[in-house]
Amino acid sequence: MATEQQTGDAATDGGPTTGSESLTVTDNRTGQSYELPITDGTVRGMDLRQIKVSEDDFGLMSYDPAFTNTAACRSAITDIDGERGILQHRGYPIEQLCERSSFLEVAYLLIFGELPTGPQLDRWVYDITHHTFVHEDIKQFFEGFRYDAHPMGMLLAGVGALSTFYPDAKQIGDPEERYMAAVRLIAKVPTLAAFSYRHNMGLPYVYPDNDLAFAENFLSMMFKKTEAKYNPDPRLARALDVLFILHADHEQNCSTSAVRGVGSSGVDPYSAVAAGVAALYGPLHGGANEAVLGMLRRIESVDNIPGFLERVKNREEKLMGFGHRVYKNYDPRARIIQQHMDEVFEATEYNSLVEIARELEKQALDDEYFTSRKLYPNVDFYSGIIYEALEIPPGMFTVIFAIPRTAGWVAQWMEMNDDLEKKISRPRQIYTGHRDRDYVPVVEREGPEKIVGPPARRPKRPRRGA
Ligand code: CMC
Repeated sequence: MATEQQTGDAATDGGPTTGSESLTVTDNRTGQSYELPITDGTVRGMDLRQIKVSEDDFGLMSYDPAFTNTAACRSAITDIDGERGILQHRGYPIEQLCERSSFLEVAYLLIFGELPTGPQLDRWVYDITHHTFVHEDIKQFFEGFRYDAHPMGMLLAGVGALSTFYPDAKQIGDPEERYMAAVRLIAKVPTLAAFSYRHNMGLPYVYPDNDLAFAENFLSMMFKKTEAKYNPDPRLARALDVLFILHADHEQNCSTSAVRGVGSSGVDPYSAVAAGVAALYGPLHGGANEAVLGMLRRIESVDNIPGFLERVKNREEKLMGFGHRVYKNYDPRARIIQQHMDEVFEATEYNSLVEIARELEKQALDDEYFTSRKLYPNVDFYSGIIYEALEIPPGMFTVIFAIPRTAGWVAQWMEMNDDLEKKISRPRQIYTGHRDRDYVPVVEREGPEKIVGPPARRPKRPRRGA
């Protein structure tokens, strides 16, 4: 059959492309060839739709479960080069930001695209500091949770509830409303996070202290007891601020994609960010550092490391805190955390897990099994130990991750809303079910009597005081 060449949809990106910046594909079902423009190393999924076997054919789609090879947006916020172990926000290397900046300044950079001038930073810090209080009704709302409610579940509900307190945030095209939502989210998430911890501990909630910096205020809301003023150790406050910078954004990860996907419906930013919190709650996303602590405790002593690594190589165990989908070199965030560990451990009690972690890393990096698979420590290998040194319980680790990530979620939500190509997120599917069946009345249906029923009732948890 003679080959007929068709070009990509002219409307997609400035018209048909010729020359090297295009992809020629031949449909072997019809023998027809198509030239698809290549832009920024991608072809448009919609350009495949012109590839049909007949006029009434829907057209070719791409199949990419989990979006492992699909760019879903254009973004100018965060850039990761996984092969070279590079992470940059708005072009600034994470190493410089951690050394010279503060979390609130990085939040500004993520959201507004540039480092703030002095007056801009002062105004931003002032606005965040003066919106850290939550409405007293939110406090009451938290009091309604069970005593052992997971703090991440409480945070998720609390962030969703904020949308009911700020209904004007529904005006997502209004710059003033957007600014206020950004400020309120970054300011109030730490307060909700600390409330969730205090609720679990049965301690009274601590109101924000406007004299303290962002990380200091969070430590005060977590740990203040009877003292008139809580003054955290500056080394610990700085280490926490650096951890906040390290977790502020990480391009199109699961929770950020959730914020963008839910936000694409036009919902208010509090509800969109609540979707991000929900995604982060999952153990595959926010929970690895907790698993690292469990692993180190099971190893128990440095003498047991060789045996543990043998079990990993026999695939009986996983070396938690090692490996990354994107970084195939040392995770730059892990290297930065390492630099702050000594300061934290100087200011806190001795923890034998640190010694085990350091020796485990050393032995794994000396082992061809791990180096040949490009398995290096990731951000979670040491972050859990630092949180533990700060006396933060494992259930709170993901909640603490959500505090800085809120800045990234807000920045990505804003960028999505300004994107001229924005549409409601709505993937396609490959339908695998039945078609065209006629309804059968219940008395005429045949089949086994027993179906998969409700699970057997589990014994109830004891109530407080029971
Ligand atoms: N321990 C032992 N072997 C591993 C590990 C590990 N942690 N990670 C990967 N491998 C092996 C894996 O078995 C495979 O070996 P083979 O080729 O012989 O089958 C090879 O390394 C490649 O692994 P992969 O499964 O293709 O890697 P992935 O990109 O799908 O998985 C990962 C990435 C992070 C899910 C995985 O490395 C892992 O489960 N790590 C432990 C959990 C963890 O620390 N997660 C936190 C990630 S950092 C936080 C964040 O940025 O979200």
